[in-house]
Amino acid sequence: MARPATRYVCAECGAFTAKWVGRCEACGAWNTLAAEAAAPDGARSRRRTRGREIDFVGLAGDTELPPRTPLGIPEFDRVLGGGMVAASAILVGGDPGIGKSTLLLQAAAKLARTGKRVLYISGEESIAQIRLRAERLGLADAPVGLAAATALSEILASLEQERGADLVVIDSIQTIWDEAIESAPGTVTQVRANAFALIRAAKSQSFALMLVGHVTKDGTLAGPRVLEHMVDVVLHFEGDRGHQFRILRGAKNRFGATDEIGVFAMTGQGLAEIANPSALFLAERHGNVAGSAVFAGLEGSRPVLMEVQALLSANGAGSARRSVIGWDAGRLAMLLAVLDARCGLKLGGHDVYLNVAGGLKIAEPAADLAVAAALISASSGVPTDPNRVFFGEIGLSGELRAVAQAELRLKEAAKLGFCSAALPRRMAGGTSRKLPPGGIELAEFGHLSDLVAEMAGDNAEKER
Ligand code: TYD
Ligand code: MG
Repeated sequence: MARPATRYVCAECGAFTAKWVGRCEACGAWNTLAAEAAAPDGARSRRRTRGREIDFVGLAGDTELPPRTPLGIPEFDRVLGGGMVAASAILVGGDPGIGKSTLLLQAAAKLARTGKRVLYISGEESIAQIRLRAERLGLADAPVGLAAATALSEILASLEQERGADLVVIDSIQTIWDEAIESAPGTVTQVRANAFALIRAAKSQSFALMLVGHVTKDGTLAGPRVLEHMVDVVLHFEGDRGHQFRILRGAKNRFGATDEIGVFAMTGQGLAEIANPSALFLAERHGNVAGSAVFAGLEGSRPVLMEVQALLSANGAGSARRSVIGWDAGRLAMLLAVLDARCGLKLGGHDVYLNVAGGLKIAEPAADLAVAAALISASSGVPTDPNRVFFGEIGLSGELRAVAQAELRLKEAAKLGFCSAALPRRMAGGTSRKLPPGGIELAEFGHLSDLVAEMAGDNAEKER
């Protein structure tokens, strides 16, 4: 028999090649290919038996919604779509040190206290370390079954023995090791095979499985990308380690919507839920500083207000610097071009810094107007109206375009005491929709140059 062939697997997308290449041909990622032993020839040439025929049914029919068990942490449950579904597999991914273990330990303890059987298996920390953390979080009395283990065979045997578990947490999937597979723990082969075995156990024994997956850029641990299509739910735990805020974001959910977020703050006593994120994100705002504007954004079904900050500094020589944190650099470039070409606001000779306060990331084009307002304000040195929120998309000709859910954004702004909102004209005028709620005054703009003119007018007024 020929010796087992080696194949190369991409840690990003899981594609195979026969030869090592620097760049994965399937997903284009660099330096992500790692060697693994190809399946022995025998496995491939085994004869397939004739299968049972499958029944085809209509699209309509009685289906029971899967029963959900809330974890008792509303910010977490919201992202799951109302609670965890039995026999489902949930992957919680995030950078090392962001708080995944803390979050899952808290969830495990909360659920265990309601009488559910919860097992927490850690391959990363010792029992002593986890106990210490539980002590610090005030969770030591929760009846969680704790174990430190990495061998897949031991874990499967224990789960088989245990039966009747409601939730099993594996922290992390990259540390689990199957001795039957030759590659090292954390390689794509190990991660994929172990996840598959654990998910199968979850389905057959009907427990919910939560897998922690580290995301690393350097590729030493296999990214959890290969897991994403194996599990039912993928959650990303995001945040900036320099900031308190942590956001749990749904990226995939076979049982619910994926655009929900849960907001937490990392405190000395673990993760605290933030029921009203807007208030927190705006807490450190100083109303009277030029270059700041409040964006009335939307995260999933939830309105969130956040502060956009811009800073310009004159750059006499060389190419101007554009630095963006929390927003898309390409969109900033576009907005600067629109301000220049359509509104006559020349910022070419300036370095531009843009920041979303609090370490948040904005993905919505609706933030265009807030970013533009912050830039205009930074350029004129006159603060925007501190009681005003901004939202609206800006097109290449400088026209303002309507965005979704204006009412929701305005309501949130009213709730937080804002009394004015700048928004695209077409969103309020002429439609039958009832605007505005809560006594917010609407400042409607058809074109970005109208906002530039208004802010210049304010400027002139103040100078007089
Ligand atoms: P951890 O949950 O271990 O992160 P992960 O599992 O994602 O790698 O948490 C890491 C950080 O959180 C750690 O650096 C310390 C901080 N932390 C707190 O600030 N407060 C706490 O109560 C706990 C438990 C951790
Ligand atoms: Mg951890």
